[in-house]
Amino acid sequence: MTHTLVYPVDAVHNAAGHLEIGGCDVVELAHSFGTPLVIYDEESIRDQCRRYREAFREYTEDFEVIYASKAFSSVAICQLVLEEGLSIDVSSGGEYHTAKTAGFPGEKIFFHGNNKSTQEIEYALEGGCGFFVVDSLHELEILEQLVAERGGRQKILLRITPGVEAHTHSYIQTGQVDSKFGFGLSDGVALRAIERSLAAPHLDLVGLHAHIGSQIFQLDGFRKAIEVLVRLIGEANQKLGFDCRYLNIGGGLGIRYTEEDAPSTIGDYVKVKMEGVREEVAKAGLPMPRVLIEPGRSIVGKSGVTAYTVGTIKEIPGIRTYVSVDGGMSDNIRPMLYDAEYEVMLANKADVATDTTVTIAGKHCESGDILIRDAVVARPEPDDIVVIPTTGAYCYAMASNYNGSLRPAVILVNQGRARVIIERETYADLIARQRPLRD
Ligand code: LLP
Repeated sequence: MTHTLVYPVDAVHNAAGHLEIGGCDVVELAHSFGTPLVIYDEESIRDQCRRYREAFREYTEDFEVIYASKAFSSVAICQLVLEEGLSIDVSSGGEYHTAKTAGFPGEKIFFHGNNKSTQEIEYALEGGCGFFVVDSLHELEILEQLVAERGGRQKILLRITPGVEAHTHSYIQTGQVDSKFGFGLSDGVALRAIERSLAAPHLDLVGLHAHIGSQIFQLDGFRKAIEVLVRLIGEANQKLGFDCRYLNIGGGLGIRYTEEDAPSTIGDYVKVKMEGVREEVAKAGLPMPRVLIEPGRSIVGKSGVTAYTVGTIKEIPGIRTYVSVDGGMSDNIRPMLYDAEYEVMLANKADVATDTTVTIAGKHCESGDILIRDAVVARPEPDDIVVIPTTGAYCYAMASNYNGSLRPAVILVNQGRARVIIERETYADLIARQRPLRD
C-alpha cells in the first residue's frame, strides 16, 4: 500500500480496493457513520503507549509517561491511556473533568496552565490532583492559600523556561526566554520561585518541569534543556537545600505528517532524555530523580485519520483543480494556523493509480480554507471518500463551529469493530445554549 508510514499500524488495502483500518473498511465506515468522520485505531494508540513505557524500562522503573490530553481529550481515550498505565496532563478544568470522568485517580493527574483560574484550582483540589505544575508566583500564592483553607499539603512542580529554542514552528515553541510560560532563569525568578515554594507550608515542591515545544525533530534541544534544568537544581540544592525528586521534561516528539518528514523514534527520544538526565545529575553529584515525560502528539497523531466526502470539483483550466470536501478548517485548522502539510488518498480508490494533481479545499467561507495544496490522487469524482492521515492530534481538539459546522463524529476501530466515542454534533447541539431575543 502507499503512504504506509503515515497511516495507523494496521492500515491495509482490502480486497475491495479500499483502505481498511483496524479491520474496518473506511468507505463503509464513512457511509454508515457519515462524514467528516474521525477514525482512531485503538491498537495504534496502545502501541505508542507501550513503546514509550518499554523504551523507559531499558533504563529504569522509576519513570512516568504522562499523556498530554490537549492533543485529544475524550473520556474513551483517557480510559485507554489509563489502561496502558499512563498518567495524564490536563491543561484546564475541562480536561481535568474529562480525565476524572474517565476514572483517572487524582494522583495520576498533572494540572498545567499558565493562567489557571481560582475556580479551576478549587475544582481540582476538591476532586484530587496529584500535581500542580505551577507557572507563576501569582499562582503559587493562590494555591498556597487555597490548600491552606482546606488543610493538607499539595505536591507541586515548577515550570521552568530553560531559554532553549526548539527547532519548530514559532507558534509551538515554548522554551525560549521570551515566553508566557514558566519561570525564567536569566533574572533569577526561577530560583526565587523555588525558595518561595519551599517556604510555603502547604505546598510540597517535589520537582521541576520544562517543555520546550512541540513537533520537534532534532533532539539536541531536549539535551540542552536538561543541562540547564540540572544546573538550576544543583544551585537550588546548594543554596536552598532543594531535593528534586521529579524531573518532568515535557513532550514534543515530532511525528511524520508527510512521507518526507524524518522524525526521531520514541527509543531515541527516551534515550536522549534518560541519558541526558543521568549524565547531568552524575556530573552535578545529585541523586537521580524520577523522570517524567509528557507526549501528546506522538501518542495519538498517527492513530487518527479523517474521512471526508468529495462534493464539488472545480477545474480552473491551466491553474488548478479544487476538490471540495465536507469539512475543512472547522475540523482541521492546522494547515491554516501552522502551514501544516498532510498526505491524502481516496479510500475507495486505494489501488487506483494516482495521476491527478488537485487542491483539497474545505467548505468554509474563507479562501484560506485549504487542507492540502497540489496533492496527487487517483482521478477524483463526487462522492469519493477522501482520507487525510495523521489527524489524530490537535485537530478535533481545536475543532470549531465556524460557519455553523457540526463537530464530526469520532470512532474507535479495532479488529473489525467500530465504536462511537464522540457523537457527531447536531443542529440542536449548535443552538442548545443559545437564548432567543425575546421569550
Ligand atoms: N506538555 C506541555 C506543557 C505542553 O504544552 C504540550 C503541548 C505537551 C506537553 C505535549 O506536546 P506534544 O508531545 O504533543 O508535542 N496545537 C499545536 C500543538 C500545541 C502544543 C501545545 N503544548 C499543533 O497543532 O501543532
